[in-house]
Parts: sequence; C-alpha cells; structure tokens
Amino acid sequence: MSILRSHGLYILALVLCHILTFLPLHCSFPVKTHTLNNTPSGKLQSQEKCDLFQGSWVFDNSFPLYDALDCPFIDAGLNCLKNGRPDKDYLKYRWKPDGCDLIRFDGQDFLKRFSGKRIMFVGDSLSSNQWQSLACMLQAAAPSSNYILDSGKALTNLSFPEYGVSVMFLKNGFLVDLVFEEVGKVLKLDSISRSGLWNENDVLIFNSYHWWMHTGKSQTWDYFRVGDQLSKDMDHMEAFKIALTTWAKWVDSNIDPAKTRVFFQGISAVHYHGADWSEPSVRDCSGQTKPLQGSKYPGNRYPGEAIVKSVLTSMTKPVYLLDIALLTQLRKDGHPSNYALGPRDCSHWCVAGVPDACNQLLNTILVQM
Ligand SMILES: *[C@@H]1O[C@H](CO)[C@@H](O)[C@H](O)[C@H]1NC(C)=O
Repeated sequence: MSILRSHGLYILALVLCHILTFLPLHCSFPVKTHTLNNTPSGKLQSQEKCDLFQGSWVFDNSFPLYDALDCPFIDAGLNCLKNGRPDKDYLKYRWKPDGCDLIRFDGQDFLKRFSGKRIMFVGDSLSSNQWQSLACMLQAAAPSSNYILDSGKALTNLSFPEYGVSVMFLKNGFLVDLVFEEVGKVLKLDSISRSGLWNENDVLIFNSYHWWMHTGKSQTWDYFRVGDQLSKDMDHMEAFKIALTTWAKWVDSNIDPAKTRVFFQGISAVHYHGADWSEPSVRDCSGQTKPLQGSKYPGNRYPGEAIVKSVLTSMTKPVYLLDIALLTQLRKDGHPSNYALGPRDCSHWCVAGVPDACNQLLNTILVQM
C-alpha cells in the first residue's frame, strides 16, 4: 500500500512537471547549476554546457587514487581490499560525464584551497562512506601530516593542523529529531534541534534517505509527530518530504551563502534485485565485478529523487544537488557485497571505490563555483 502511494506521488510529480514545463522556476530540475562550462584543462571558458551527472564509467588504470591498505579511516566493513575481495577492477573506474571531464583530484591543492576551513558531511552511514573516502584521498596527498582524528559518539573530526583544514562527519540519519517520549521513539518531522554544529562550516554536505525506507522490524522509530499530531504510521515518502522541508527551512533561515556552500548528497543506489539491471536470475550484488556499460539504468528511478528535487527547487538559498543516483545505479560492482565482514552489503560502497568519484565530483564543483 505504501509503495503504491509513494509511486502515485512520484507519478503525480512527473505529470505536474510536464504540465508545468512552461514555468521554468518550478520544474527546471537541475536545481542549481548542474551544468558548467569546461575545456580540456578544466577551466571555465568554453560555452559548452556539461551535465556532470549524465555520463558513464570508463576503465582507467591510473585509479584508485590511494591504497586502501594504507588508509587508517576506513570502517572494517568497507575496506574490501583488506577483507580479501579478489577482483580489483571496481577500483579502476572513472566517472566520465558525457560532455566534459572531471578535474583530476589533487589533494595538496584541495588542502591549500581549504586552508582555515571546515567541511562537514551530515547524514547517515552513506555520508560516513563519503567522509571516509575524502579522508583517505586527503591523507594520501599529505602522508606525513600529523593529522588529528577525534571520534566522538556523533561527530568524527579529522583535521590536518599544518593546513588548518577539518573534514568532519556528523551522524544524523534523519536530519530531523528522533526523541524518546512516553509512547516510544518519536520522529518529529517538523523539528530540528541538533543543528548546533551545522552552521559553523564552510562546506556542508547533507544526506538523508535510506532510513526512511525502513519498515517493520528494521524501522528505528515507533511514531511520527508533526506538531500535536502523533501518528502510528504514514506514508514514509510523505514523512520524508515533510522532514526535508523542515531541513530546507532551516537552511533558508540559517545559512549565509557568502560563507557556506551547501550540498545535498542525492540518493545512493542499492543492488538487491538483479531484475533492476536486467539480470533477473541474479539475486543481488554478489559476484558483480563490472559496472553497467553506458549511461542508462534499466531499473526505476527512486521515489525519493523527485521529492529531493522538488524540495530543493522551492528553497531560497542555493543548495547544490550532488545527483549521484544514476552514477551509483550503474555500479552494481561497487558494494562490499560478501566482503563486508557481516551480512552481505549491497548498499554501502567499498573504499576505495565509488565514493572517490563522488568526491571528485564534489571537488570539480567546488573548484568551479
Ligand atoms: C575539530 O578538530 C580541530 C583540531 O583539533 C578543532 O580545532 C575543531 O574545533 C574541531 N571541530 C569541532 C567541531 O569540534
């Protein structure tokens, strides 16, 4: 029932979008500039527009950008190399937008550009996945740095004192509040109180989605609350939309765009059904060693994608959508799979691997902003 309803919402959004194409403000889906001008040197010069998120994966022997065995920041379950994954091609794919090339990542240049600055990923374990990758990319560029790693309950803070750069991960899977009330665990869709560390940053990369998809026993809350209204259940995508709107209001009223660049890390793909990539006989990502070729994914878009885009479009402050859904969908080979030291994992990503490409995208955008 809830799946039907969320698909209904999604289709409604699409239909509305077709009707509203006349009103560019409402449905020009690249939320902020997804496009940028590019020349072979990666400078902003040519008039050619490039959608960074439309492209394909190409084999490139110069990858990975670092050796996972030398990186001290990778969660045990995500270090596929260390955990004995035998195939290595998943380390060697570069994301190639159709109309341009990403800027090759230069960690020294990154550390110097962000001297005196703070970068924070806020969200669930997929934010942590991105943080781990960026931490490795930077540490590999400054191997003799006396970095400081401070791992608290919610905040992980890696700083490079020689550069004055801090790269942080703040665990907050819903962005809105999850609190204990008499009735049980309540997800307060219209309330954000754990934002104390958010606006201290120069770059903020938010993400929330996967926990909203949980149902039944894997659900981490008992009730939803909006104002005085307590509900045992509601459509999870509706709840996600209310929560994301609460977050958007926070950004609109608290962020100073002159100081802080805000990103929303888009929805990251999972690979639990071979039918999604036209291999119905395949159960999940296990044994997958190659990405899908080309730039089309046979499976459905995620219902959350339209919600994220519509909320971001309604905001007054600039938020850049890191629209990684398609590029992660194509990487059925990039998950820890049977090398996760626990249950088979087809939702997180091996580090090194796919998150390095997402950080390379982030860097390309930051350089050109
Ligand atoms: C992160 O660590 C650096 C260096 O120790 C420190 O200056 C900074 O205040 C820390 N950030 C937070 C949010 O605790």
